[in-house]
Amino acid sequence: MIRSVVLGTGSYLPEKVLTNADLATLVDTSDEWIIQRTGIRERHIAAEGEMTSDLALAAAERALADSGLAASDIDLIVVGTSTPDNTFPATAVAVQHRLGIHHGAAFDLQAVCTGFVFALSTADALLRTGQFKRALVIGAETFSRILDWTDRTTCVLFGDGAGAVVLEGQEQPGALTDRGILTSHLRSDGQHKEKLYVDGGPSSTRTVGHLRMEGREVFKHAVGMIADVIDQAFAATGTDADDIAWFVPHQANKRIIDASAKKLGIASEKVVCTVERHGNTSAASIPLALDEARRDGRIKKGDLVLLEAMGGGFTWGSALIRW
Ligand code: UT7
Repeated sequence: MIRSVVLGTGSYLPEKVLTNADLATLVDTSDEWIIQRTGIRERHIAAEGEMTSDLALAAAERALADSGLAASDIDLIVVGTSTPDNTFPATAVAVQHRLGIHHGAAFDLQAVCTGFVFALSTADALLRTGQFKRALVIGAETFSRILDWTDRTTCVLFGDGAGAVVLEGQEQPGALTDRGILTSHLRSDGQHKEKLYVDGGPSSTRTVGHLRMEGREVFKHAVGMIADVIDQAFAATGTDADDIAWFVPHQANKRIIDASAKKLGIASEKVVCTVERHGNTSAASIPLALDEARRDGRIKKGDLVLLEAMGGGFTWGSALIRW
């Protein structure tokens, strides 16, 4: 059977760093509150004029260099983002154009913080049909552009960034020891859409709008939903927490990450955590963490890597990858 094997990773963070102390000069908050409630110390913010496609392109170029492939080898680009450059066309076609690719297909996928898991699963399905051979899957966001910088309950939580992986469809025996994406599980439930949303859009207000969140409500559902899709991944593959080499969760809140790992019985030393330095970068958070853990030597060939995310919609999902 065809499996989507990860050939390379890359990421990019804007130069500007915004610390909790910086935020305390903008809104009524403190370093202590932010660290205690979220684990976040700082986040990166895109420069004026620096767009989601710029971040995505930089991450994609690094992932391509890491994979040893040329841009022309790529025939599919999927960008997970909720902060596209424009309402249309897709940010993915801007990346495609700037990589000099004129064949294949490129599109965006919007599942908020679960965007990367949705994009990965979609690209995997398309590679497994044989319709495409090699994909760039990117999570890229400039959430700083949709934050209400007077709302302390949201503006302290998010940051900008991008991460990317290169996937190739390869024939594998069809066993648990195969390399590649072994399983993925996607969920959504729109009854929760008012708990985390943007209060604008082309068809409603004709504006971009600002992010609004009932944080406590989101928190209440997060751990259960995360555990649900991870249990599905374990059941589908006959694996359990002990088989996992690295747990790479969406980085929204250190308390959610710790509680999820604890509930699932995943040892804390297997958890990749970047939220302290990146904040919540929505669809970019998982590929940013993956790239960091791979480049510093933690994730190695043959490792079983578990991804999960949960976010606006609600959407939630998991993926299990043999590196
Ligand atoms: O990635 C997509 C999914 N999103 C998430 O996973 C986010 C999930 N939610 C969370 O991470 C947490 O709910 C938050 C970090 C957003 C908030 O933490 P919390 O422990 O749930 O705090 P809270 O909302 O219950 O607020 C506690 C208090 C409130 O004051 P009162 O009502 O107790 O007087 C807030 O007004 O903290 C206050 N507060 C702040 N104080 C200082 C809220 N934001 C701030 C702030 N600085 N930035």
